[in-house]
Amino acid sequence: MSGLAVDLPIATERLVLRAHRTDDLDDLVRFHGDPEVVRYVPWPVRDRAATAETLEAKLGQTTLDEPGKWLVLAVELRSTGTVIGEVLLKWASDRQGELGFAFGRDHHGQGYAAEAARAVLGLAFDDLGFHRVSAVVVDGNDASTRLLERLGFRQEARHVDGVFFKGAWTTSLVFALLEDEWRAGRP
Ligand SMILES: CC(C)(COP(=O)(O)OP(=O)(O)OC[C@H]1O[C@@H](n2cnc3c(N)ncnc32)[C@H](O)[C@@H]1OP(=O)(O)O)[C@@H](O)C(=O)NCCC(=O)NCCS
Repeated sequence: MSGLAVDLPIATERLVLRAHRTDDLDDLVRFHGDPEVVRYVPWPVRDRAATAETLEAKLGQTTLDEPGKWLVLAVELRSTGTVIGEVLLKWASDRQGELGFAFGRDHHGQGYAAEAARAVLGLAFDDLGFHRVSAVVVDGNDASTRLLERLGFRQEARHVDGVFFKGAWTTSLVFALLEDEWRAGRP
């Protein structure tokens, strides 16, 4: 299979999902450096230099080159032009994907993550022809679990001490959504 091209930007009612730009750094530093935001994600709390280093790898990303690679999109709030979060789609294997997301605390509780995630699921199922999208959540990350359930994901597994996460054995939850379920659940 060759690489998958992604048609960007993707506009939703309140958001634009697009490739990262160098001038996103100030907005990214705000949430990459927040211990509460990174508590359940694999990255550490990042300072400006570490955030800049990771931004470099995401600049101008518009393809999923091969299975195993993540596409990391900046989520911009249309009303202000601020990057309020990131949504991630991994080309896991064959026609399977994995979803991820992280948003700054100032922008939680307003439905932005759900709006962005729905757009990425549209990309995965409609544009890329994926059959299944999964998501892995650290047990206790209730906001993420609620979000996945709102999106129609089913919990498929609970791996007790299934991952060594930030220095401790941690239980992980596996969720998934099939293309048919996504289409059936659409408004
Ligand atoms: C996971 C995460 C993205 C969820 O964010 P969120 O703001 O709770 O999710 P949404 O954007 O869908 O917002 C939903 C909430 O907004 C409320 N809301 C307010 N206005 C809304 C609107 N116009 N439309 C939809 N929901 C709205 C909903 O009632 C819901 O609240 P509830 O969860 O208390 O019931 C966020 O907690 C986060 O970034 N966490 C840190 C990173 C992380 O852990 N990532 C996951 C790793 S697997």
